[in-house]
Amino acid sequence: MFFRQITTDIKVSITIPQYAEELYKLTENNREFLKKWLPWLDNIHNQDDTNKFLQHQLSRFQKSEGVPEIIFYKGKIAGVLDFNKIDHANGIGHIGYWLAKDYNGHGIMTQVVTDLIKLGFEYYSMQKVEIHCAVKNIPSRAIPERLGFKNEGVIRQAEKLYDRYVDHVVYGLLRDEFKC
Ligand SMILES: CC(C)(COP(=O)(O)OP(=O)(O)OC[C@H]1O[C@@H](n2cnc3c(N)ncnc32)[C@H](O)[C@@H]1OP(=O)(O)O)[C@@H](O)C(=O)NCCC(=O)NCCS
Repeated sequence: MFFRQITTDIKVSITIPQYAEELYKLTENNREFLKKWLPWLDNIHNQDDTNKFLQHQLSRFQKSEGVPEIIFYKGKIAGVLDFNKIDHANGIGHIGYWLAKDYNGHGIMTQVVTDLIKLGFEYYSMQKVEIHCAVKNIPSRAIPERLGFKNEGVIRQAEKLYDRYVDHVVYGLLRDEFKC
């Protein structure tokens, strides 16, 4: 299979439907944890929903609409990462991510995001990478801050999370600012 080895323990793969069973179980076990900051949990009811999600992601990759990746830690699926939008006209990639609760706190996401940024600048000829985080999502904000992104301001009521709207901080990193 297609993998990018990030460290001895961490690797990423392109999303393929064969991961549906393991990814669905991980999603189910982390439903409440993820629901705090992600809006799509109520759309995932069973493995077939995850299967459809993975097929959709693969088709986006084929059309260069995104770079969806599955994150593996010590051989097990730990989370998901993506250029969930690529603005080809302006050379801007937007990164989104989640990591299961048990895998938090090891620097896994910071390291795979670093690799994805590299891919964006080197392979997709981007000139800028953006990460949008809910203002109160401190662990998520720590990732772009750790990687030298600039805080470019706040968009009000940028996302609906079930029964509430949250503001987003926009973080941006220009090609010349990237230190890998
Ligand atoms: C946001 C999210 C990915 C952050 O996960 P995380 O584990 O805190 O991030 P990382 O994997 O980069 O780990 C960073 C932590 O590991 C530590 N760490 C250890 N080794 C490290 C390394 N080599 N490099 C960087 N950090 C390292 C850091 O100090 C930090 O610990 P701290 O939180 O105690 O300061 C995760 O909480 C999550 O998925 N939440 C739910 C969904 C979500 O919010 N998605 C984002 C929507 S915008």
